[in-house]
Amino acid sequence: MKVGIVGATGEVGRAMIKVLEDFQIPVKELRLFASKRSVGKILIFNNTPIEVELLTEQSMKETFDFLLFSAGSTISKTFAPIAAKHGNTVIDNSSAFRMDENIPLVVPEINGYLLKNYKGIIANPNCSTIQMVLSLYKIHKEFGIDEIFVSTYQAVSGAGHKAIAEMEKQYSGKNEIAIFTKRISHNVIPLIGKLRDDGFSEEEIKMINETRKILEDSSINVYPTTVRVPVYYGHSESIVVKTKKSFRTIENIKKLIQESTNVVYSEEIITPIDVAGSDYVFISRLRKIDEKRFAFWNVADNIRVGAATNAVKILMKLAGII
Ligand SMILES: NC(=O)c1ccc[n+]([C@@H]2O[C@H](COP(=O)([O-])OP(=O)(O)OC[C@H]3O[C@@H](n4cnc5c(N)ncnc54)[C@H](OP(=O)(O)O)[C@@H]3O)[C@@H](O)[C@H]2O)c1
Repeated sequence: MKVGIVGATGEVGRAMIKVLEDFQIPVKELRLFASKRSVGKILIFNNTPIEVELLTEQSMKETFDFLLFSAGSTISKTFAPIAAKHGNTVIDNSSAFRMDENIPLVVPEINGYLLKNYKGIIANPNCSTIQMVLSLYKIHKEFGIDEIFVSTYQAVSGAGHKAIAEMEKQYSGKNEIAIFTKRISHNVIPLIGKLRDDGFSEEEIKMINETRKILEDSSINVYPTTVRVPVYYGHSESIVVKTKKSFRTIENIKKLIQESTNVVYSEEIITPIDVAGSDYVFISRLRKIDEKRFAFWNVADNIRVGAATNAVKILMKLAGII
């Protein structure tokens, strides 16, 4: 198959190349696109060097089996519709189309059925949302979720490669602030995305709206606080859930988590460093508050589970590989 990656030099783009290799996707031709800053750079796919090309309208009019976009929402809004108009299937990592009612927002393990006979643009959800809904979809089906209180501890890589560089510079003594609103080294920042007039951040609104869309239930109340922490890879989430029906014992919740696809339940404490490079969501510190409320700790690699792996699984589902 012929695949193109738009934003190939970024954190997510590079991980997409790796995930295509790891999952042994039968890619015959891989084209890599980025900005003029990266033209001529060489990236390696299956031991083969591939030169990065400039993203142009013309290139998006060519025929691809799949185009994976991860170059931000402005680029997606400009180039994805051109690619789709020319018959290409686009899997988009940005927030550009996620809440468009005509565009499926897909976590294949949960609502992969939406991809049947679908052509056009498909949206990949936000990283913090993916790891949360993967651990909750079976619980929602069984007991109904009423409320989710979630505080995130999000890695710096979630803001791209420039954000990692900014943190490293700060640790080396240069206190330059450009990507984040405050210094991130030796610190935490309780704001991800822009602050809105209603007091919520853009990241928090994504978690609210995307959770409802993926779980197909607009009655779910989500109360997020999204926080950036000085961790390279791996988002963590402290989650408290209130169910509609009584789950009686915490063993019933544990069983549903253990039955969830690509979710690992652990009695050990799991930290971001433990999960870097993994394609699973890890749950630990599960505990009962009462018969309708429980709490747990949820950790996953934001670049893989939260972006690249989900996108490649969408490709696999569309291609009939899974
Ligand atoms: N990081 C995450 O955890 C995560 C998770 C889910 C979704 N996402 C989304 O994925 C997207 C990329 O994130 P990232 O973390 O990979 O960012 P990143 O590391 O900053 O990479 C951005 C990529 O976009 C390319 N790009 C920027 N401007 C361009 C232009 N004018 N024309 C063509 N290419 C351009 C960059 O190319 P150059 O190298 O040439 O500048 C680079 O390849 C964003 O929409 C982000 O919201 C990220």
